[in-house]
Amino acid sequence: MTVHLVRCSARRLAEQKRALVQLLVDVVADGASVGFLPPLPEEDAAAYWADVEAELAHGHRELLLAERDGLLVGTVQLELARKPNARHRAEVTKLMVHPEARRQGVGRLLLQEVEQLAKGHGRTLLYLDAREGDVAEQLYARHGYRRVGRIPDYVRDEHGKLEATVVYYRVLEAAPG
Ligand SMILES: CC(C)(COP(=O)(O)OP(=O)(O)OC[C@H]1O[C@@H](n2cnc3c(N)ncnc32)[C@H](O)[C@@H]1OP(=O)(O)O)[C@@H](O)C(=O)NCCC(=O)NCCS
Repeated sequence: MTVHLVRCSARRLAEQKRALVQLLVDVVADGASVGFLPPLPEEDAAAYWADVEAELAHGHRELLLAERDGLLVGTVQLELARKPNARHRAEVTKLMVHPEARRQGVGRLLLQEVEQLAKGHGRTLLYLDAREGDVAEQLYARHGYRRVGRIPDYVRDEHGKLEATVVYYRVLEAAPG
């Protein structure tokens, strides 16, 4: 089935809020390290997406949706650095694909498209981090991201155990013109 990528406005986010809440709840329940611990209450997920909605409205962030058959199967965000000396860089965050839609190329598609969006904003340096050992590390490495190093004891898992994160970056060619 074809996957459609949609650049999501604040208005569209509001319309899609239920699906976004469910995606985040499901991904966290599956054990992903995306800033939350399971079980994630729907109210907390909704509050998170409300914050994203505000950031989209202010133009500080981009949100891409991946849809298949009209259903949301994944998302990724681009946080546009705002400091005057940092307008060439952006952080890739919250890349997540629904557990039932994985290993079908959706994550790779989102990563490719978010890079096009970054270029459109004149951002040529992307950076991100991933919990050490997560499959996301393999995706980033295969996609040309360079490993900077690891920070120990960076995140806690649901059992309270501290785990390391690994930092990556990728330099993009500037868009012509
Ligand atoms: C990481 C994630 C987004 C990948 O999404 P996906 O749609 O399954 O990824 P793709 O199908 O596009 O895979 C692209 C490549 O990534 C690597 N990869 C993805 N999942 C993998 C797995 N389970 N085991 C090994 N390699 C994997 C492979 O190199 C794969 O290429 P291949 O299928 O040709 O071998 C998804 O697993 C996810 O949502 N995880 C939970 C959230 C998370 O950890 N996000 C990252 C936050 S930093």
